[in-house]
Amino acid sequence: MPDDTVILALESSCDETAGAILRNGRDVLAQFVASQIDLHRVYGGVVPEVACRAHMECLLPGVDSLFAASGLKPEDLSAVAVTNRPGLIGALLVGVSAAKGLSLAWGKPLLGVDHIEGHIAAAAFAEPELTPPYIALVVSGGHTNVYLVRDGDSGRGAGRDAMECLSSTLDDAAGEAFDKAAKLLGLGFPGGPRIEKAARNGNPDAYAWKKTCLPQDGANFSFSGLKTAVLYAARGRAGRKGALLLDEQGVADAAASFQEAVANALVSRAVDAALRHGVRWLAMGGGVAANGYLRAKIAAACAGHGIRVAIPPMNLCTDNAVMIAARATQLYKSGARDSLDLETAAR
Ligand code: KG4
Ligand code: ZN
Repeated sequence: MPDDTVILALESSCDETAGAILRNGRDVLAQFVASQIDLHRVYGGVVPEVACRAHMECLLPGVDSLFAASGLKPEDLSAVAVTNRPGLIGALLVGVSAAKGLSLAWGKPLLGVDHIEGHIAAAAFAEPELTPPYIALVVSGGHTNVYLVRDGDSGRGAGRDAMECLSSTLDDAAGEAFDKAAKLLGLGFPGGPRIEKAARNGNPDAYAWKKTCLPQDGANFSFSGLKTAVLYAARGRAGRKGALLLDEQGVADAAASFQEAVANALVSRAVDAALRHGVRWLAMGGGVAANGYLRAKIAAACAGHGIRVAIPPMNLCTDNAVMIAARATQLYKSGARDSLDLETAAR
C-alpha cells in the first residue's frame, strides 16, 4: 500500500478521547472513542481539569489499540493528525503534545486539524457526492454556525479559506442550550439525548417558544431567551434553585417545545441560506446533529426545495477521530504539513 494515504488521527478537544486510522479518506481501519460522560455527570457538566486527566490516561493506550486492531505499524502511516483548535485549551494540549511526540518518534509528518472543519468533513465522508458550493450547519456544545462552503483548498474540503460564516449564535451554543434546559427540567447530563427522549412523549406546540431563538437581525441565533423561558416554566420565578413545578407530562411538553424551537431556528436559517445562495447541498454536523427530530425536520425542509442533505451517522456527529482523519486526508492531499511548532488555540 505504498500509494495509500494512511492517517492516524487523535481528538481530545472536549470530553471524548478518540483516535482513528483512516485509509485514503474512506476505509476506517481502526477507531476508538472513550467517552468521559460518567466522570462529568456528577458535576452536571464538563470539568476541564477532569477532562485533561482522563485524556492523559486514555490517549496512548488508545493508540496501541488502533495498531492492535488494524495490524498496522507506525511505518505504515502517512501522517499523524490531531485536533489543535478550537476546544478546551488543556484538553487540546494533551492531544497535541501526544501527536507531536509520536510524529517525532515515528518520523511522520504532523497535521493540525480544526475541529469544526472536522465536523463538516464527517458529512463529506458520509456522503461522497457532497460537492461545494454548499451550506454547512455546525451545531455542537460549543458552536452554532451556518457556513457557505465555496470550492476551497482541496476541492471538496471545507478549509477556512473556503468558508464564509453566515450565521452564528449571539449567546449560548445549541448543544449548550440542550444541556442547560435538561438540567432545568431535572433530566440530567448529557442534556441532548435526554431532552430528545423526553420530547418523544411531549407536545411540541405546548409552549410558543419558537420566536425566542430568532433575533430580529435576520441572520443569527439566540438561545438565552429560550433558556429563561424553560427556567420560568420549570421552576417559576423562584429561579434555578426552585423546585420543579412540572409533572412528567409537563416535562415532556417543555422538552418537546424546546426541541421544536431550537430545530425550527436551525432549519429555517440553514434552508434560507441555501435558497439565498442557490446551492444544491446542505451538510450538517456536530453533536446536536445526532438529534433525530432535527435530522427529520431538516431532511423534510430540504426535500421540499430540492436541496440534497449530507448528514453523518449519529456516531460521526458527536466527537470522534474519524472526522479528524477525514479532514486531515484532504489537507494531506493538498500538500499541507505542520511543524512541531504547531499551535493550540481555544478559539
Ligand atoms: O460535537 P460534540 O460531541 O462536542 C462539541 O464539539 O461540543 O457536541 C456535544 C453536544 C452536547 O451539548 C450534547 O448535549 C449535544 O451535542 N447532543 C445532542 C444530542 N446528542 C448530543 N443534542 C441534541 N440531541 C441529541 N441527540
Ligand atoms: Zn464537536
